[in-house]
Parts: sequence; structure tokens; C-alpha cells
Amino acid sequence: MKRGLRSRLAKYGDDEFSLFLRRGFLKGAGYDDEALSKPIVGILSTASDFNPCHRTAPQLAEAVKQGVLAAGALPFVFPTISLQESFAFPSSMLWRNLMAMDVEAMCASLPMDAVVLIGGCDKTIPAELMGAISADLPAIVLPVGPMLAGRFEGTQLGACTDCRRLWASFRAGSISEKDLNRAHDQLMPTAGTCMVMGTASTMATIAETLGFTLPGAAVAPAVSSERMRIATATGRRAAEMAKTDGPRPSELLTKQSLRNAAVVLQAISGSTNAIVHLAAIAGRAGLKFDLQELDVVGREVPVLVNLKPAGTQFAEDFHAGGGVPALWRRLRDKLDLSAKSVSGETLGEVVKRWPGYVDDEVIRPLNRPVVEGVAIAILTGNLAPQGAAIKLSAATPSLTSHEGPAVVFTSLEDLSKRIDDPSLNVMPESVLVLQNAGPIGAPGMPEAGALPIPKKLGSKGVKDMVRISDARMSGTAFGTVVLHVSPEAAAGGPLALVKDGDRIRLDAKSRKLDLLVEDAELNKRRTAWKPPVKPARGYERLYIEHVSQADSGCDFDFLVKNQT
Ligand code: FES
Repeated sequence: MKRGLRSRLAKYGDDEFSLFLRRGFLKGAGYDDEALSKPIVGILSTASDFNPCHRTAPQLAEAVKQGVLAAGALPFVFPTISLQESFAFPSSMLWRNLMAMDVEAMCASLPMDAVVLIGGCDKTIPAELMGAISADLPAIVLPVGPMLAGRFEGTQLGACTDCRRLWASFRAGSISEKDLNRAHDQLMPTAGTCMVMGTASTMATIAETLGFTLPGAAVAPAVSSERMRIATATGRRAAEMAKTDGPRPSELLTKQSLRNAAVVLQAISGSTNAIVHLAAIAGRAGLKFDLQELDVVGREVPVLVNLKPAGTQFAEDFHAGGGVPALWRRLRDKLDLSAKSVSGETLGEVVKRWPGYVDDEVIRPLNRPVVEGVAIAILTGNLAPQGAAIKLSAATPSLTSHEGPAVVFTSLEDLSKRIDDPSLNVMPESVLVLQNAGPIGAPGMPEAGALPIPKKLGSKGVKDMVRISDARMSGTAFGTVVLHVSPEAAAGGPLALVKDGDRIRLDAKSRKLDLLVEDAELNKRRTAWKPPVKPARGYERLYIEHVSQADSGCDFDFLVKNQT
């Protein structure tokens, strides 16, 4: 196989001429013959002024470069699409697959022998992994790292769990606009990703567990010197991988590493978004992320990592408390420690050499979990034949077994128009149902599943209600929220058939979600159902025609490898 600058030559019908041209342009940029003979490490930078979470990406890329050069390879930084949660309309999830295609295309097109993937904000690491796995180029993930916790009047604040808590308090009238604004200044106090166990921290922890980062790389703070040292070490390791042509993603992503990811996801009480991303990541390698296995694992693995929203601490505490390898040590009887890491070691070898210190308050022992019971459960029933997810560790226990009448919102627009209408016929025992917010319906499956509590109930002290949708929910959110209902309403799933007043029964203990309406009536409603009108053109048209349902990862059918 051709390596270095000789790889992936532009086609002019004369490879030596192609190389002559390529070398010429690089000589024009100041490189000499010796430099141009070295293996090449691509450094994918997701720096963007529209992505404040990745504000440190340029410095990290420089530190990676130092590592690559020190190890005798040649670094090239290149850009891809960058996605930040609050900047991507209508939802970053719509663009995750586009970013994954961009990553794959660049890995398949540019002359690199290995690639460093700098990512962090929620969709970026999943998209990078999906693209790199499809390209199957030696790849190593460098998370940008989490923000430090904020401080406000004696309490610590974490984005975005406390953004949601403060906003809900403001809506309920229990905090003034002035105080809200003062707290606002402290919610995102440094560069980096959200510092609770939201999707960013979850996916960085999962990437480390799947073996795609150096050990200890997931949650070192973005603004720490340690983060810079991790970046340099990542560059050095990438140079070695470029020279030895491995390990490749296909060597790291296996059934055993996916099961390890399920164990860790439950133990960290991670974001439910990880379920969708793991299904997509697995699909790129021709594997299946088994939702039923995730549910079984959840019954065996306690929540050990004490981070908000399920717990009380922040990502910096997780890192200082021992980090991800210390968690693996706690879980050693539940993990397959023969799984490999990009460091060249197995997880077991990392655990053996990792410092023995662990902060028991942050990474709890097995007999002192953060919350009793299961973190994430998978539901099925006549309302979700292909499954739905609920984060029990963020739910109100008394609501996880509940029957009530539906209050239905047919779209996100309908929701925002009517949720605070004083005449809305809603009671605390009602079940709020949102339709057409799934992968096809929204489109892009936004994080709208934690429907706001109607103002007329919130102002009376109601803090949680059962909410059901085909949308997702931020990993930083909380509540008794049933998500990812599959098939979604816009694909003709039973969720589309729910009407105001229908009784719905949630029984999380038996993992059931049922619409208590006679089959004959449902069949009548099904006959009257009409699919949504497709967008006329462009990426949205491609998305709607090819996206899979949540249980399969919302990837495009033509990007999934034939599953085994
Ligand atoms: Fe970027 Fe939370 S919005 S990590």
C-alpha cells in the first residue's frame, strides 16, 4: 500500500506527475524533501467561531503537531464541519451524518497514514467515529475536554443541567430575571464541553472505553495543562500508528468493546443520546448495538459515577478522582478487559498500571451506588414496538409506574404554541405526548423530549410529569421522560395514532409502554394516517429518504456496513 505523500494521489492518468505536482505545492509552502518523505498524520480540527465548546481546538492541534513532529512524522491540520448544540438549526442531529460523511470523505481522500480526531461537543465525536470507522484509517480521538464548574453565590453550576434548572425556576416564577442573568454569566465559565454527564462527557467516556482515546483522555479539563500534555501524547501515538499502520478502527470496535460501552454507559448514568450514537457507530463496522443487552446490563451494573444530573459532582471531579480507567477498575468483573485500546494496551493492562488512587465519593464502590436501581431502561409495548428509552436515574420514581390521559401535541410548533395556554386541558397526572419530533418528523430528532411542564402546573409546584415522544433529550436533562419511541410518528408508528384523552400506561419495572386503546379503533386511525410531505430538495430530502429509526442509530441506510 502506498504511504505518506504517495497515498491517494489525485488522478491525472500519470501517478508520478501527480506526486510531482503535490510535492511542488508543498515545497512552495516551505517543506523540504526530508520532511516530505515522512509518514503523515492528519489532524482533524473542529475549531469554529460557531463552536465555543471547541475554543481550544487550535491550541490542541498545535500541541498534537508537536507530538507528531517529535515522533518523526509530518502533521497536517485540516478542517471539517463542526457542530455545536445551540448553533445547529434545527438540531445538530440532523447534521451528524453529514459531518460523518465529511470525516469519512477527508480520511479517504487526503494523504494521511493516521488521523487525530479533535472533537467534543455532543455530535462531533460520534460523527468522527462513524466516519473513521467507515474509512478504517488508524484513528485516535482527542476530546477537547470539559469546562470547569461555575460558581454562583455559594453553589457550583454545571452546563447545561443548571441552565435547565434555573430556566424552569424562572418559568415557575421562583427566581427573578435579574438573578437569572447573574447566574447566566457563570454557567459556561471556561472553554470546553458541558461539565456534567451530558452527551459530550458521555461520548468522550465511551470513546475512551471503546479504546479510541489514550487512557485518561476523556475528562481532563479543557483548560488544564494536562489536556495539553494529553494532546502532545496523542500526536506522538498517532505518529507511531502512522508508521505501523495500526491499530485500525476495525481492530478496536468489536462485540466485546460494544458490550463494555454498554456497561460503562449504565455505570456513568450517561446520556440516552449515546444509545443512538452507539447503534450508528456499531452499524459502520457491520455490528449491532443490542438494546436488550443494554437493558440487561443496566440491571446488573449500578450507577457509580456521581456526576450531575444523576449525582452532584462535575467532570473535573471525575478526572481528579481517577478518571475512566479508575472506573474500569471498579467494574473489572463486569467488563471484558481483553478489549484493546489505541494505546496498544488492553483495558486490563491499563487498569494494572493506572495509579491506585480513587475518590470514593465521585467513583463510588459497587456497594454504594449514586442512585438505587437502573440508569437507562429499554421499553417496548404497543406504543413502541421497536423500543423506547427512559433514563430512570433522572426520573421521579413514583411516576415510573403511571397511567394517565394523553395530552397530545402534534408537532414542535404545536407544542410551543399551546404548552402555556391557560386553557390547556392538562392535570398533573396527564401524560404529555409529542408527535412528529423523530428523525423524519422534525426532521433530525431534536432534543425536545423533555417537554416543558405547562406553566399553569409549574407555577403550582408541579416539577415532573410523564412525557413521551419520538424525540431525544439532552444528557443534561432530567424528568420522567420516555424517548426515542420507534417507529416514530412520521414513519407511521403507533405514536402517530394517539389522541387527547387516550389512556397510556408506563410500567418501567416490566419495561412496558402501552396505549390503552382497542385495536379496532387504532386500525381505523391508521387508515386515516397520512405520511408527511417530503422536503423538495437538498440534504434534508436525502436525510428523510435514507435515515434509519432511533433503534438503528439514525444513520443513512447506504452508509451502514452489512450487519453480522
Ligand atoms: Fe457543546 Fe454541551 S453544548 S458540549
